[in-house]
Amino acid sequence: MFRIHQPLRALLAVPFLLGAARAQGTLAEAAAKAGLNIGMATSSRQLTGTYGNTAKAQYNMFVCENDMKFQSTEPSRGRFSYGGGDGVYNFGQANGQRLRGHNFIWHAQSGWAANVNGSRDEMLGIMKTHIDSVGGHFKGKVVEWDVLNEITDDGNGNGLRKSFWQKAIGDDYPDSAFFYSRRADPYAKLYYNDYGGDGVNSKSTAMLNLAKKWIQNKVPIDGIGLQCHLSSPVNKQSISDNIKRFGEIGLRISLTEIDIKNGTTQDWTNLMGACLENFNCTSFLTWGIYDGASWLGQGCNCLLFTESWQPKAAVQALIDLMNNADPAVVAKRKEFAKEPIIPTLVYPRRAPVRDRAGGLLPAAAVPLFPAGIGAVDALGRNRSVAPHSPWAAGLSIAPR
Ligand code: G3I
Repeated sequence: MFRIHQPLRALLAVPFLLGAARAQGTLAEAAAKAGLNIGMATSSRQLTGTYGNTAKAQYNMFVCENDMKFQSTEPSRGRFSYGGGDGVYNFGQANGQRLRGHNFIWHAQSGWAANVNGSRDEMLGIMKTHIDSVGGHFKGKVVEWDVLNEITDDGNGNGLRKSFWQKAIGDDYPDSAFFYSRRADPYAKLYYNDYGGDGVNSKSTAMLNLAKKWIQNKVPIDGIGLQCHLSSPVNKQSISDNIKRFGEIGLRISLTEIDIKNGTTQDWTNLMGACLENFNCTSFLTWGIYDGASWLGQGCNCLLFTESWQPKAAVQALIDLMNNADPAVVAKRKEFAKEPIIPTLVYPRRAPVRDRAGGLLPAAAVPLFPAGIGAVDALGRNRSVAPHSPWAAGLSIAPR
């Protein structure tokens, strides 16, 4: 599944091994065995020198920390800029690494869009143009898109955050964002990403209820991003239970923005353990690579490499844990995470759910696209089929 260039990885790992005389193997090699994407947040400007070599050797996925956000990709209305994302994608392509997209719709870092104060129709139009353009540019290049970021309110009974999107469009704005995204890039898995709902708590329950409603309404969501901005100690059981309950409704989980303030080796293995024991946990990404550059500031002791680029003991512990993952769960994860030959709206996914009229829908995949015969790309995906209209059925609003 992962196109990892083993000899190149081994070569690149040499300085890392010499410097630390500690880690056996790499995070990326062990993650491939466990069927996991293992990644980190970065920018193309950072991917040089020791930083770049470590990124090449240790990871199989990247996410832009800031460069694919609204204000970076559409700095003024209708003018798009993709250099930051392209740079990280090209770096990863050269090394067989994948790209996660962060993000289309958020209340922050949205530049001019936050000040439009437009009508529902105008804001839907802005949302659609943005997702069409950015999603279209990265079509087939991004394997997971955060369609929505941080949309659940922390107070307010865990309703939707009163963002400028919600205020102008209404509570069904997430539905439109997902539909626009599926049309813009049918090959990407679509996520709702949020913080503070990593373990079982009222916020993650609110997130779960939102996801259940979307699935019932045939809104195309594939997964939930649990950001995991954590502090020591990390509660493995609670996070594992939370991942599991999203798996029960057919959703993938990505741990998307991990940092653990004052994290111990045990904290890191608790988090990785919670992921590994659930087949639906498919990606594990840290928010940065080393303590020298974290949004939390130097001295956070929150990432896997020290400020002087030494791998912490947690690196070897994670490698060992991934290498020894339960083979039955690994096999199930690899099956679950497979790219479909023809993209499908897998509704109602793995479990039967009730449709909006109360009918019980079986746990079978309903094809989103007509079965087209065409060339299959390197990832086994058929790119010859085009989106068509049936996915509009069941929408709370019609996609524009
Ligand atoms: O690029 C400009 C630079 O030109 C300017 O000189 C400098 C002056 O302050 O600012 C730079 O931009 C900063 C940018 O990071 C790049 O470093 C912004 O001020 C700063 O606000 C921005 O912070 C980012 C933050 O999101 C914005 O909300 C952090 O790097 C980034 O780590 C953080 O990431 C978020 C996720 O997207 C969502 N979840 C929470 C996470 C942490 O807050």
